[in-house]
Amino acid sequence: MNPVLSIENVHKSFSTGFIPKKREILKGISFSVAEGEIFGYLGPNGAGKTTTLKSVLGLIFPDEGRIELLGRPHLDPRAKERLGFLPENPYFYDYLTAREFLDFYGQLFGIPKSARDERIARLLKLVGMDRSSGLPLRKFSRGMLQRVGLAQALINDPAFVILDEPLGGLDPLGRKEIRDIILNLRREGKTVLFTSHILQDIEMICDRVAIIVGGRILSQGKLTDLVSEKVLFTEVTVSGVELEELAALGESLTVQADRVLLKVVEEDKVQDILTLVQKNNGRIHSLIPRTQTLEDLFVDMVKPQ
Ligand SMILES: Nc1ncnc2c1ncn2[C@@H]1O[C@H](COP(=O)(O)OP(=O)(O)OP(=O)(O)O)[C@@H](O)[C@H]1O
Ligand SMILES: [Mg+2]
Repeated sequence: MNPVLSIENVHKSFSTGFIPKKREILKGISFSVAEGEIFGYLGPNGAGKTTTLKSVLGLIFPDEGRIELLGRPHLDPRAKERLGFLPENPYFYDYLTAREFLDFYGQLFGIPKSARDERIARLLKLVGMDRSSGLPLRKFSRGMLQRVGLAQALINDPAFVILDEPLGGLDPLGRKEIRDIILNLRREGKTVLFTSHILQDIEMICDRVAIIVGGRILSQGKLTDLVSEKVLFTEVTVSGVELEELAALGESLTVQADRVLLKVVEEDKVQDILTLVQKNNGRIHSLIPRTQTLEDLFVDMVKPQ
């Protein structure tokens, strides 16, 4: 199966300053997005995520490398017809209402009036903005604008949706709603590529991720392959046992009211703690094995070597 997006060895430099000095921002980026998946593009601030996406959209031109979009060279208008894009900082016309704003974009795609009206009503409902559709956009909060931006990215019923920080500026409930919309897009057979700084959001919904640091892809693949399932340590919360007795078994001790939280690295020691608690007629309140998270992997990669 052909990938929906294939990026091969893309380089991009920018010249800045009074005496122009070239800085290479993308240093040979390669990755591909398969049909029907949710792909997370992850990296610290300034890593080059937006620059990569702008290259894919044809808003800037790479110095070197090849990009293929929906089976065509990426600048082909037939490929772009089937693409939806939410920019990092979308520009909104202050005096248009949400409905007028979407209508404007619908017209750009040449969608006939009746189909446009029907689609706009459906999208406004989908992003939870149907009740505010008559308000001018300047009266919208950041989270509300983000939702209208997402509706705009879907106006042409795209096969492939690229979202640059779609969860930025949203409260936890709003984030969940947008995550659900993204999951729903996958259910409809669409492909989604999005960037986010909130690793949990990526962990919750992405099939595969690529991690970019300093203009290089340091890791990519299925989340389950990147993040090891191995238990790193176990957190045990107990009560009814003397602190001194526990100190020998757990690494870091945190005391909360009458409860003690222990970080236990050696698995044998977990068993010892259980025996000790039983002997003292104490209680186990929780026992949580901690595996590696995307955050651990990310922090390891981003840390200066
Ligand atoms: N037009 C430009 N001219 C000069 N430098 C640029 C230009 N666009 C981006 N850069 C630089 O390229 C680097 C990468 O920027 P980019 O916006 O791609 O990062 P990002 O990964 O999207 O970061 P963030 O998470 O903050 O959105 C930054 O150091 C930025 O200053
Ligand atoms: Mg960015």
